[in-house]
Amino acid sequence: SPSFSLEKSPKQTLLLVIWFLSLSSALGQVSYSIPEEMAKGSLVGNIAQDLGLDLKRLKSGKARIYTGDSAEYIELNKERGVLLIKERIDREALCGQTTPCALHLQIILDNPMELIDVEMLDINDHAPVFARKEIDFQISESALPGARFSLDNSAHDPDVGLNTLQRYTLIPTDYFSLKEKSRSDGTKYVEMVLQSPLDRERDEELKLTLTAFDGGSPQKSGTVKISVTVIDANDNTPAFSQSVYRVSLAENAAIGTVVLTVSATDKDKGSYGEVTYSFSQSSGKDVDLFRIDENTGEICVNGLLDYEKSKQYELNLEAMDKGGLTDNSKVLIELTDINDNAPVISVISFSSPIPEDSTPDTVIAMLNIKDIDSGKNGQLKCFVNSDLPFRIKSSSSNFYTLVTDQILDREKMSEYNITITAIDEGSPSFCTNKTLTLKISDVNDNAPVFQLQSYTAYVMENNSPGDSVLSVKAHDKDAGNNARISYFLEDLCFSVSHTPGEILAVRSFDYEQTKEFYIRVKAQDGGSPPLSSNVKTVCFSPLGCCRLHLAPSTTVFIALIKHL
Ligand SMILES: *[C@@H]1O[C@H](CO)[C@@H](O)[C@H](O)[C@H]1NC(C)=O
Ligand SMILES: *[C@@H]1O[C@H](CO)[C@@H](O)[C@H](O)[C@H]1NC(C)=O
Repeated sequence: SPSFSLEKSPKQTLLLVIWFLSLSSALGQVSYSIPEEMAKGSLVGNIAQDLGLDLKRLKSGKARIYTGDSAEYIELNKERGVLLIKERIDREALCGQTTPCALHLQIILDNPMELIDVEMLDINDHAPVFARKEIDFQISESALPGARFSLDNSAHDPDVGLNTLQRYTLIPTDYFSLKEKSRSDGTKYVEMVLQSPLDRERDEELKLTLTAFDGGSPQKSGTVKISVTVIDANDNTPAFSQSVYRVSLAENAAIGTVVLTVSATDKDKGSYGEVTYSFSQSSGKDVDLFRIDENTGEICVNGLLDYEKSKQYELNLEAMDKGGLTDNSKVLIELTDINDNAPVISVISFSSPIPEDSTPDTVIAMLNIKDIDSGKNGQLKCFVNSDLPFRIKSSSSNFYTLVTDQILDREKMSEYNITITAIDEGSPSFCTNKTLTLKISDVNDNAPVFQLQSYTAYVMENNSPGDSVLSVKAHDKDAGNNARISYFLEDLCFSVSHTPGEILAVRSFDYEQTKEFYIRVKAQDGGSPPLSSNVKTVCFSPLGCCRLHLAPSTTVFIALIKHL
């Protein structure tokens, strides 16, 4: 169907439809919609053409408009067959808020009489329209429920009555509800009311749809997208990923070694979500040994660590966002021992010399041997050169005694360099040596021994008294006085100088009287008690071990030679 519409103003447009209800079935229907307040003489529509009426029939039938009592708004121009505005139509004056607003008029034709009913109806052909396609809000997540946000740009529906805007809906309904408000001038608008707290960390942007419905039939609606950007409030504290961080670290970790990286997250955005890290004041002085990168949370070694001084470090951590909210955590750094200390051997006492007759297990030295490392790194094995007659005995922890292991013999070995070795069980291990020089003192345990079992000498008769006959010599393995030998003989004819063993004739001999002499010479050392040849000495040791010294004397055979 042909139709036209003219709009006078976008503010309020009266839309009228004119229905031609013909009594004759030969006539069709035509509708016009016209804005209200059209100027006088404005064309409403070409009724003759649209209804298929002959202009002559209009004339012959004296076509005219009948409106009964009501004012005549429309006139018919018979010559042109058109409907024109006769009086300015004011829909409000005509119908007020009554809907549908209908303007009834008849076109009457004579010969034969025809009555064409014309009704002008207000129809719902406009949907509510929002002035904007999208409405944006920026709302802080700290906004409290009940906060209202005016949807000032409410929809507009140029229709009237039921056909104009009736209600709004807002979906989804999780956060906001709608409240309809009236201004003092009676116009209505809606507000969005916050129902439950926003949380940027959960929903950073909310998309809502505001729909305006009119009351027409069919109902029409218009929508506008509402976008709510939730603005961050510093409503989240930083949170460390762990309440305690534990890490173990070798005590020899170099300066700069990364120990671990801690992290705290803050769900807020921007600077409220930016976290810086620090050691808190309560960390004590250990804190100087470590350094934390305030931006990355990386903790590095910053000083010399020593397991032997401290086995564990405890650092209190703080994470702070730019809004000043903090969280605390703690780092426990357990040092692991590295074998970085050698055993230390300290001599507490040392007896030197010791007599050669010292019994086995005689204590020579008391030692303190220790290694301050821990575990295997501090466990020690101590020993002395295996070829020596000594051994190490552990008395109590860290205390050792160096004792004799065998009977000593100064005459075989008068001095020992005893190397005590302490070795820890670390890997690699450390070894410490300490050498003690032990002197063995002499005991008179050797009797003099003559170089020869027997001596023979020849003396010319008529010798002078005091003449030297021969020298005997004994040897003593001991030392000092214990080896100083004196010679003795018991005979009237000879004497022996005590030292050296020179045998002298005491008088002049006569071959005819005595041709030969057997004398026994004894050698005796200067020990206390002295040992001598020709003497049996029995010595009892404290252990009951008996040593027998048998030092034979020597026999001297002296023959006289006849003087010719
Ligand atoms: C012991 O060591 C010292 C010094 O090194 C050395 O003069 C001496 O001969 C050594 N003694 C023995 C019995 O090896
Ligand atoms: C200690 O002595 C042992 C042999 O007694 C030797 O092998 C080792 O190298 C010595 N260690 C040191 C540190 O002098």
